[in-house]
Amino acid sequence: MMLKSTLMFDYASWTKRIPENIIRKLLKYKTRYYFAGGKPGILPTEIFARILVDLGVNQFQKLLNGKEREIVEEYNYGPTSGLDSFKEVLSKFLKEHDRLRVPPENIVITTGSQQSIYALLDSLIDPGDVVLSSNPTYLGFMNVAEKLQAKIVTLPTDEEGVVTDYLEKIYDETVKELGKKPEIIYVIPDSDNPTGTTLPLKRRKALFNFAAENNILVMEDAAYREIQFRKKIPPMKSFDEENKLVAYLRTSSKEAAPFRVAYNVIPEGLIKEVIKAKGYYDLCTAKILQKILEIYYSKYIDLVLPKTVKRYRERCEAMCKSLDESFPEGVRTDPKGGFFVWFRSAKKFNASKLLVEEAIPNDVAYVPGEAFFTTYGYFYNPDINKLERTKPRKNTMRLSFSYMTPGEIREGVKKLGTILTEKIDKYLT
Ligand SMILES: Cc1ncc(COP(=O)(O)O)c(C=O)c1O
Repeated sequence: MMLKSTLMFDYASWTKRIPENIIRKLLKYKTRYYFAGGKPGILPTEIFARILVDLGVNQFQKLLNGKEREIVEEYNYGPTSGLDSFKEVLSKFLKEHDRLRVPPENIVITTGSQQSIYALLDSLIDPGDVVLSSNPTYLGFMNVAEKLQAKIVTLPTDEEGVVTDYLEKIYDETVKELGKKPEIIYVIPDSDNPTGTTLPLKRRKALFNFAAENNILVMEDAAYREIQFRKKIPPMKSFDEENKLVAYLRTSSKEAAPFRVAYNVIPEGLIKEVIKAKGYYDLCTAKILQKILEIYYSKYIDLVLPKTVKRYRERCEAMCKSLDESFPEGVRTDPKGGFFVWFRSAKKFNASKLLVEEAIPNDVAYVPGEAFFTTYGYFYNPDINKLERTKPRKNTMRLSFSYMTPGEIREGVKKLGTILTEKIDKYLT
């Protein structure tokens, strides 16, 4: 039977509340100068080609020896929490790179750390529960938390990340205004997305102590942990010696390639539920991808990472210098790693409108900062010691330096600087 018209579906209510991810939306524009998504532009392509060839040769050898069954197994479904051999390699890697003692059984492999964010929030959040985060915050966290109807309370944030002076007051105000204590703190201590700030050791300790005193889970999203231009600061996970309080989210997407493989150290009291949730999303993460990364982390990463980091640092320096030379008056962050610089203009203008009407037609893309402020959440205003509804700062922009070469960055930022200088007055708010 042929249907005469398009079917009207009765969508779930969240589809109306939660917008499409703006970065996914921007992907449809193919601009010459791309400073929008956090796309890695430096990948160990030669190493991966070598690993794939070695894997292929090894498999042919097995086939010639009549061991087809073994190959069938390599391509097959695997354990939901990840391959044991991969987790052993990662346990060693975390010891060498972060001085963390993590038994392999405390690690959960997920299909990207976006999935671990989802699984953690999905396992803990009922509508109305309260989560704390920075202001602005990571879109992939915010949209999921708001989808699950969490109330996000954002903390004052400066050029070093979340300010920790008001934690007790925020706790009291949250209980008073929202009737619930915070359940989770979500932070990106190493080169935040979107602001590029790095949380100093003192603030990491203050946040951890606050969480420990109040029995709050810390979601430490360490997506940019390996892309650090200076000596690394200990992760908050290192204070959690008994593995009770900090979920440590690590991904291979930035330091290796977005194969959709992440590795997470999950507190003892949560790990079963997180694995259960993951099982419902995808049963397991593709085994062959875990195998490729197992080889990469055990044999190759230390050979390539220093070169990768150096090249990202050059890109970051090119972007910061070009911004200083060509952007109109404003302030930018000074990243010590990661993929992003955050710019706030002195003039109040609408960066979203300018993007669509001026930047994209002129072949330049960035993400308007407005996208990273919660839609339904709250902001703690220390001046009046009160929670207020979050107000997006429209005069902000997130610029990614990860994908373009230093030369392209110089050209593109100069072009964008000229556009801003000439057109900003047309977009004043
Ligand atoms: C802070 C942060 N967390 C998580 C993710 C998602 O990472 P993955 O590609 O592993 O899902 C990203 C990706 O941009 C990110 O910036």
